[in-house]
Amino acid sequence: MVRNTKPKLEIVQHTRSFKTSKRITPNRLSQDFYSMKNITVIGSGTMGNGIAHLFAQQGFAVSLVDLSPEQLSMALTTISKNMDRQVTKGTLSESQKMAALQRIQTHTDLAMAVDQADLVVEAATENLEIKLELFRQLDQLAPATAVLASNTSSISITQIAAVTKRPAQVIGMHFMNPVPVMKLVEVIQGYATSAETTSQIMQLALQLDKVAVEVQDYPGFVANRILMPMINEAIYTLFEGVAGVSEIDTVMKLGMAHPMGPLQLADFIGLDVCLSILSVLQEGFGNPKYAPCPLLRTMVAAGFKGVKTGEGFYCYPAGTKDFTVSSRFSK
Ligand code: CAA
Repeated sequence: MVRNTKPKLEIVQHTRSFKTSKRITPNRLSQDFYSMKNITVIGSGTMGNGIAHLFAQQGFAVSLVDLSPEQLSMALTTISKNMDRQVTKGTLSESQKMAALQRIQTHTDLAMAVDQADLVVEAATENLEIKLELFRQLDQLAPATAVLASNTSSISITQIAAVTKRPAQVIGMHFMNPVPVMKLVEVIQGYATSAETTSQIMQLALQLDKVAVEVQDYPGFVANRILMPMINEAIYTLFEGVAGVSEIDTVMKLGMAHPMGPLQLADFIGLDVCLSILSVLQEGFGNPKYAPCPLLRTMVAAGFKGVKTGEGFYCYPAGTKDFTVSSRFSK
C-alpha cells in the first residue's frame, strides 16, 4: 500500500515497430521511477475519484479538483465507502484507509491544485472542447516538468497535446472502471509523445500495481475499439428482436465468461459514453460498421443512460444492489 515498496509486476513495453519488446522489471527501472510524488486529478466523477483513490492508496499526495465543494465532498464519501470494501475484505487496514484519505486534498482552484504537480491526470467530462481548454490552462499553470495525462476513453491524445507547448509530455493514461479493481492501464502514445514520457508512465503504472499496455493513438485506442463494437452489436441484437436483454447478457456471461453481459456493461459505463465513443470510431475511421444502433441513440436522447440515471437496459432502484430488466424490454 505504501509507495517505495517494490512493484510486484512486470510489464512488456513494445517499440513503435512492434518488432521488439523490452521487459521492465524492478531492477531495470530507471532512476526517475520514484520521482513522481504529487499527483493532481482533474474531475471527481466515477473515474476521477477512482484514480484519486488508487494514487492515495499507493502513497502519493493527491490534489483532487472539481468545480464545486459539493462534488468534491461527494467524491470523498465515495472513496471512503470504496475503501471500506477493501477494509471489509482485509486488503486494506483501517489505519491505511485513514492515511490514504489524509493524502487527498481537494481544490476548486485549478492553479493551486497543479502548483506542485509532477503528474496531472485529467478525468473531466468526455468532451473535446472542455478537454482542449483544460489542457491549454494546465500547460500555463503546471510546472514545466510536469507530465499531463488524459484518462480520455476515445479523444485523440495527439489533438489534446497539440494545444500545449509540451506535446512530448502529454500522454493518455486510460484507466478502467472500477479503477481500484481493474488491473489494466492503457497507455496511449500521442504522435509527439516522447519515449521518455511513455517510459515514465509505464513505470508509474507498475508502482500503482497495475498492468500497463502501450498503444498508439488511433480512434478508440485498443480497449474501446474492440469493446464498443461488441456492445453496439448486442444492442442491435436486442433492437432486431433476436433475443431479450437478459438472454443476450446470459449468453455472453455463461458462454464467454464475461463478468457482466454487454448490455449490463453498457449501463455500467453509461449509454451516453458508449454513444460518444462509437461516434468517435465512426468519424475517425469513416467506416459505417461503427454506426451507433438507433436504439442506443434513442435511449440517450430520452435520458435513459444506465446506472447513473437509474435506468437503461436494466432498472437500478436507489439504495439497493438489486436490478431488473427494464419494463420497456421485458416480454
Ligand atoms: N472500489 C474498490 N473495490 C471495489 C469497487 C470499487 N469502486 N467496486 C467493486 N469493488 C470490489 C468489491 O468490493 C468486490 O470485492 P471482493 O470480490 O473481494 O468482495 C469486487 O470488487 C467485486 O465487486 P462486487 O462483489 O460488488 O460485484 P461483482 O463481483 O459483480 O464485480 C465488477 C463487480 C468488478 C465491476 C465486475 O462485474 C466486473 O469486472 N465487471 C466488468 C467491468 C469492466 O468491464 N470494466 C471496464 C469497463 S470499460 C472502461 O472502464 C473503459 C471505457 O473507456 C469505457
